[in-house]
Amino acid sequence: MTWQRTPDLPVYHSTLTMQALFDVLTPGSKDWILAQSIEAERLPSHIAIIMDGNGRWAQRRNLPRAAGHKAGMQSVRATVDTCRRLGIQALTLYAFSAENWKRPRAEVDMLWRLMRLYLRRELPEILANGIRLTCMGRLDGLPFQVREELEAAIQATAHNTGMRLNVALNYSGRAELVDALNAIVQDARLEGRLRDLRIDETVIAARLYTAGLPDPDLLIRTSGEMRISNFLLWQIAYSELYMTDTLWPDFRRTDLLHAVADYQKRDRRFGGLGPDAATSQDDWLEVAGGTLAR
Ligand code: FPP
Repeated sequence: MTWQRTPDLPVYHSTLTMQALFDVLTPGSKDWILAQSIEAERLPSHIAIIMDGNGRWAQRRNLPRAAGHKAGMQSVRATVDTCRRLGIQALTLYAFSAENWKRPRAEVDMLWRLMRLYLRRELPEILANGIRLTCMGRLDGLPFQVREELEAAIQATAHNTGMRLNVALNYSGRAELVDALNAIVQDARLEGRLRDLRIDETVIAARLYTAGLPDPDLLIRTSGEMRISNFLLWQIAYSELYMTDTLWPDFRRTDLLHAVADYQKRDRRFGGLGPDAATSQDDWLEVAGGTLAR
């Protein structure tokens, strides 16, 4: 069972970007105006989300933490729907980190129950919308029933060519790198090329759980925390970060559209220069000469 890797299939490229979104928006509404400001040609291919703030959302309402997680499921639903309608190719959700096992047993059990509930409730719509579900993390560590139901859902959607919904479960960015490096060494050992093994970035990327997916263009974190929390450490090297104070259970279509609109205002240079930067070789020689002469 290749639980820890997602197959290297090409990611679907939507031809009907954004039309499905306008289909459900009322002309002149807040979301419609926001959507109008988004350029279909410059959408992020892959959005990753650290869903945070369920506990605080519940606490502010004097409710048990479980109520926050339950309400967070509605945000998952709204986010998946909006991303699909926008024409986003891949959405990765951080649902359970390898560190979340430190929480009280009752909360951990509740989270797995919710995961199963989500699958049962949402699978028909996921299938109807051609979404392909994948999971990443050390999935062998998941409760047996969750694994069984997840595997069935993954199989059922395996041939879908629509948006990729990738859920991180028992996930740790450092563990992912460890698993990738061990897999590379193991492959080389089995193929008798361990002595000559040379590792480069392409080799590592090909053995990450996200192999075959583009790196996230946009990483969203809710609840105002300014942390990465061991999420996609390799893949977010050049992602645009969007941190919002909104708690995850309050995150809805409008919030997602705000994040995408904000992303489109960014000047992504990937360590290079923007189109307006000075490129004259003479300027550089002059500055360098001046510095040396001093
Ligand atoms: C962080 O909030 C959230 C989680 C650890 C769980 C996320 C799970 C869901 C949204 C429900 C199910 C998900 C799917 C994909 C079906 P927190 O509890 O750390 O909040 P706090 O920081 O306010 O305590």
